[in-house]
Amino acid sequence: MYTNIEHFLHNDHNFGPIRYSYSDIKKMTNRFKQKLGEGGYGCVYKGKLRSGHFGAIKLLGKSKTNGQEFISEVATIGRIHHTNVVQLIGYCVEGSKRALVYDFMPNGSLDKYIYSREGSVRLSIKQMYEISLGVAQGIEYLHQGCDMQILHFDIKPHNILLDHNFIPKVSDFGLAKLYPTDDSIVSLTAARGTMGYIAPELFYKNIGGVSFKADVYSFGMLLMEMASKRKNLNAMVEHLSQIYFPLWVYDQYSHGKDHLEMVDVTEEERAIIKKMVITALWCIQLKPSDRPSMKKVIEMLEEDVEGLQIPPKPLLYPQEMPIDDLQQINLNPTCSNVELTCTLSARS
Ligand SMILES: Nc1ncnc2c1ncn2[C@@H]1O[C@H](COP(=O)(O)OP(=O)(O)OP(=O)(O)O)[C@@H](O)[C@H]1O
Ligand SMILES: [Mg+2]
Repeated sequence: MYTNIEHFLHNDHNFGPIRYSYSDIKKMTNRFKQKLGEGGYGCVYKGKLRSGHFGAIKLLGKSKTNGQEFISEVATIGRIHHTNVVQLIGYCVEGSKRALVYDFMPNGSLDKYIYSREGSVRLSIKQMYEISLGVAQGIEYLHQGCDMQILHFDIKPHNILLDHNFIPKVSDFGLAKLYPTDDSIVSLTAARGTMGYIAPELFYKNIGGVSFKADVYSFGMLLMEMASKRKNLNAMVEHLSQIYFPLWVYDQYSHGKDHLEMVDVTEEERAIIKKMVITALWCIQLKPSDRPSMKKVIEMLEEDVEGLQIPPKPLLYPQEMPIDDLQQINLNPTCSNVELTCTLSARS
């Protein structure tokens, strides 16, 4: 009747994620034979589900939560379904052993395509644009489309996975809440970790409260990198002024330049790049209240470039803020609550 149990449990009856035993996990991964990668929470292995489909199994390190908390969080996350969000298929809790089983994404994570290495697949600007729109839709769903608001707090190229058709899927949402790790590593790892994507209000008091706008900021930094296919902060550039791409590109567009001397770029591609960059510049405004919602971001990305206004200059450092604003800023990095503290921890 049903060819496989995963399909039956998951798609047809929406019972939520499947509980696997640790021995199932060992079997599925063939004793953890093929490692896909490693992040802040543990290692990810390729596995084969009973259905014959492939899965990505994240084996988690030591946690503070008890099994029951873990299971209730997993149940919540497992009920989330969206084309642009990675599907959680199951989990394992056995003693101190914890694992999460996700759909396997054959085209890996977006970082490989943004900072493309020799020999790797190159995505066109149009494809990058389509992917960015999908990512925006995935985040918008987490913010507004499901039962509860889910803030990701770790949007970055590594957490955007691509299926066989290059449809982007946001991954690792809810992990911080699901799997708080040791607080003591926060400031260290946050400082050296994914600094380029973390919203400034997570570090500085009084820029504004921490909200969904923190994800908008991270998405903006990601969008900027997708448009330029380079790291936002890159010291290996020809001209000093280009080290921090968002400021450089802002100067170009605000001085009336319509295109960024890029080689082999068509008119249509130029317009797409400009649209992505202007939208990104809005997202990375220092004050959360100046940033758009993800809903608005989608509208901007779908709009004609002529309809978009250039935002105020994005600020890299709080030191560049007008003096009034600056006085309010406490320059000691801070984490405003425990959950965020956990979110920021253990980034690699
Ligand atoms: N569902 C999946 N399908 C295919 N590959 C995956 C999947 N999930 C993770 N991976 C691969 O495993 C790697 C490690 O993922 P992991 O989430 O542990 O680390 P990360 O994304 O670099 O950092 P973070 O811990 O902040 O999420 C990813 O970069 C990706 O290449
Ligand atoms: Mg990840």
